[in-house]
Amino acid sequence: MATAIEVRGLVKTYGESRAVDGISFSVEEGEVFAILGPNGAGKSTTVEILEGHRDPTDGEVSVLGIDPSRGGRSFRDRIGIVLQSAGIDRELSVREVLDFYGAAYSSRRPTDELIELVELGEKADDRVGTLSGGQQRRVDLALGLVGDPELIFLDEPTTGFDPGARRRSWDLITNLRSLGRTIVLTTHYLDEAEHLADRVAVLSEGRIVAEGSPASLRSSFGSGTTISFDLPAVDGSLSDLLDPLTGEVRGRDRRIEILTSSPTSDLAHITTWAVAHDLELGSLQVASTDLEDVYLQLVGGDT
Ligand SMILES: Nc1ncnc2c1ncn2[C@@H]1O[C@H](COP(=O)(O)OP(=O)(O)OP(=O)(O)O)[C@@H](O)[C@H]1O
Ligand SMILES: [Mg+2]
Repeated sequence: MATAIEVRGLVKTYGESRAVDGISFSVEEGEVFAILGPNGAGKSTTVEILEGHRDPTDGEVSVLGIDPSRGGRSFRDRIGIVLQSAGIDRELSVREVLDFYGAAYSSRRPTDELIELVELGEKADDRVGTLSGGQQRRVDLALGLVGDPELIFLDEPTTGFDPGARRRSWDLITNLRSLGRTIVLTTHYLDEAEHLADRVAVLSEGRIVAEGSPASLRSSFGSGTTISFDLPAVDGSLSDLLDPLTGEVRGRDRRIEILTSSPTSDLAHITTWAVAHDLELGSLQVASTDLEDVYLQLVGGDT
């Protein structure tokens, strides 16, 4: 598979501060690549350099085989962009905005198809300025797809979407991927990255602190499964419940959490104990370590 994006030693400084501090990565054609990281980590700066909207201070960047800072029209024709905060004309209607921006592209998706894709049929003739925040964001998303691009940059595309709209936009992105499009996505929603991304890079203070598939990050940083339940009122000691467990036991008020790499045997012990004591374990949950747990470990967000 060919490489869509190649970044080597990328640096971007603003005065004394290094917003991007020497990062390298590549994105293959047809891949969904997610960039995660806290506010100010350098995600938008990186993405905007790849789009040709900012010049790097140092390093090498190749996007579709082109240096984006010298990209020109033929480069822009092949990429689609959803900026973190787009400044589109609020006086125009949804249909007018899509017609207007679409005219700049050599191959383009029909306006009606775009309106349907982002579910704005009922708002097509309304002025953009009168739309709700989430609806305006859908216009931004439609604009990113207007030129039927082969490479799409989505900088926090689903911020402000209601949960149903977010799920449906995931289907849209999955669909674009199945058509062979390459997608670079930033998001603060870890479930979004988990659901969509083939690979993720976690940025922190301008550096990549982890990179890989969501599954590989989970297995290299997480340690398995968390079993949790509300402790029922029992007479006497809990040592016959807790001592045989292989996992690490944590308690918070009446909630017990066991972090374990042998969930099957620990769970068997716990449920056997509860049944023998004729107790129901309230809100019993078994959950694998998810990308959010890994992310918080990496960026220190839970301190
Ligand atoms: N034009 C600019 N001038 C000066 N500093 C800037 C400029 N743009 C970004 N920065 C700084 O660079 C750093 C990275 O910003 P960036 O927008 O890339 O972060 P981000 O990861 O996209 O954050 P967020 O999750 O909040 O969108 C921040 O400290 C920001 O203040
Ligand atoms: Mg940003």
